[in-house]
Amino acid sequence: MNKQNVTIHVNGEARTANVEARTLLVHFLRDELELTGTHVGCDTSQCGACTVHLDGNAVKSCTLFAVQAEGRQVTTIEGIGKIGELHALQTGFWEEHGLQCGFCTPGMIMSSAELLKTNANPSDEEIRHALEGNFCRCTGYHNIVKAVQHAAGAMSSTQAAPAAA
Ligand code: FES
Ligand code: FES
Repeated sequence: MNKQNVTIHVNGEARTANVEARTLLVHFLRDELELTGTHVGCDTSQCGACTVHLDGNAVKSCTLFAVQAEGRQVTTIEGIGKIGELHALQTGFWEEHGLQCGFCTPGMIMSSAELLKTNANPSDEEIRHALEGNFCRCTGYHNIVKAVQHAAGAMSSTQAAPAAA
């Protein structure tokens, strides 16, 4: 099988692997880079568990070949927070019990992060709409919505806080 080198900037670091042209981005991340926080929950591109950011936009990484991400910026759940700190969304899911088994959670967080970039204070309806491509088999979604609102509140109060003298 024909293989080729692919270099993708993942969580701020250039990562190269020799892969088959048919290798999906999600398998590049999980199998080649061992970034197993990005999950595979279906084989029909529907569940959203594989969501990552590609050049800042949320995408389902099972719908792209790794070679299509050549030279581009990918952020996974492992890279969303600052080193040693949880992202506000990770804290929100923790505080509001936004997960049970947690399988959907990385994808939920990556999709929610994209929403909060353009809408700092989303309504219930806007959150549900933004997450309609992410399925959860456990929670019933109510606490997921609360988790995103928790994060939105924390992020806007951080931004509103006066700079230290
Ligand atoms: Fe289900 Fe990608 S693994 S949408
Ligand atoms: Fe189990 Fe969402 S917490 S699938």
